[in-house]
Amino acid sequence: MSEAPETLYDALGGHAGVAAVVDEMYVRVLADVELAHFFADTDLERLKRMQTAFISAMVDGPANYSGAELTEIHRGRGIERQHFSRFCSHMLDALNEREVKPNLIDQVLGRLAMFSDKVTGATNVGG
Ligand code: HEM
Repeated sequence: MSEAPETLYDALGGHAGVAAVVDEMYVRVLADVELAHFFADTDLERLKRMQTAFISAMVDGPANYSGAELTEIHRGRGIERQHFSRFCSHMLDALNEREVKPNLIDQVLGRLAMFSDKVTGATNVGG
């Protein structure tokens, strides 16, 4: 019997690794004047917990995400493409800060990019 191949989640260091990247990312997001205001009324501890669970599932880790559906939670907040891009660039910096390997970084960013329409409300619901 061969062992199951290592998932992207494992390669990132499992729960502790993903949580550390998420922490690093929000340090940058909250220091960005273009983005910080979106989070003025947000419970940041819950956000980081939820984001860690969401990203863990996104990188083939445990499917424990119990938060809101992405289109719903981001709707009506005025989040546009340029905000989404900045958010992703903070993720890139956080992954680099954690010294994640470039090929893994590409995979994480590729997966993150798939949620652009949901976060910016560009999804053509029902269409
Ligand atoms: C792929 C990119 C993104 C993902 C995967 C993502 C994911 C999430 C998740 C999982 C939550 C928690 C939901 C819950 O509490 O139930 C959340 C909340 C939130 N997100 Fe995002 N997000 C992304 C991009 C963005 C961007 C670009 C912004 C704004 C610049 C943003 C603003 C927010 C805010 C303000 C909340 C908190 C809402 C509240 O206070 O309850 N997100 N997001």
